[in-house]
Amino acid sequence: MPSLATPAVPAGALADIAQPEIDAGELRLRPWRADDREAVLAGYADPDIQHWHCRSMNALEADAWIAAWSGRWKGESGAGWAVERDGVVVGQISLRRIDLAEGLAEVSYWVLPAARGAGVAGRALGALTRWSFGTLGLHRIEVAHSTANPASCAVAERAGFVLEGTKRGEAKHADGWHDMHLHARLASDG
Ligand SMILES: CC(C)(COP(=O)(O)OP(=O)(O)OC[C@H]1O[C@@H](n2cnc3c(N)ncnc32)[C@H](O)[C@@H]1OP(=O)(O)O)[C@@H](O)C(=O)NCCC(=O)NCCS
Repeated sequence: MPSLATPAVPAGALADIAQPEIDAGELRLRPWRADDREAVLAGYADPDIQHWHCRSMNALEADAWIAAWSGRWKGESGAGWAVERDGVVVGQISLRRIDLAEGLAEVSYWVLPAARGAGVAGRALGALTRWSFGTLGLHRIEVAHSTANPASCAVAERAGFVLEGTKRGEAKHADGWHDMHLHARLASDG
């Protein structure tokens, strides 16, 4: 069924614009660079990130992960930003399953252990949400997390992503299938 909304960036047009930096107050979201390898390796060396994002990474894989983002932007399948504080990468946030025709996307995030508990994920999510509704013209953005991950639940709730329900056994982690909370925020939520 066609969308009733007129998207700010029509489907197929993302490749025509450069991936922007997004101001998030004392944080800055910026496209990944080849010299971010150490930050990416540090992220995927963390047991919590390995667990909740279901992977680890060596140097070659980190380089490939970074390099893939520009193609994903051009192909409209994803958009990833490094989250910087004082010029240092402290986390990542990304749009996945982008569907510009329907105005939909899902967000994923992680924060390096030393930077947690200071509102980094919440502020990055707030800034990306504003940009995605305002500039990209999305209508609905989802966050999904395991019901065993209360920190991610708090981040989503704080950023105005309403808990809509629980998807049973939707994600397989190292310790088996997890039920997933589905949160979403609509552009019309204000
Ligand atoms: C989840 C994660 C991104 C949060 O990043 P952060 O920058 O520390 O998040 P914030 O500081 O913005 O907010 C953390 C919130 O979680 C809460 N929190 C942290 N640990 C918690 C726990 N074990 N139980 C309940 N709440 C918890 C904090 O109190 C805070 O809530 P508040 O704002 O209501 O006080 C980070 O812990 C992380 O990267 N974890 C590993 C990867 C991961 O879980 N990614 C998400 C997958 S869906």
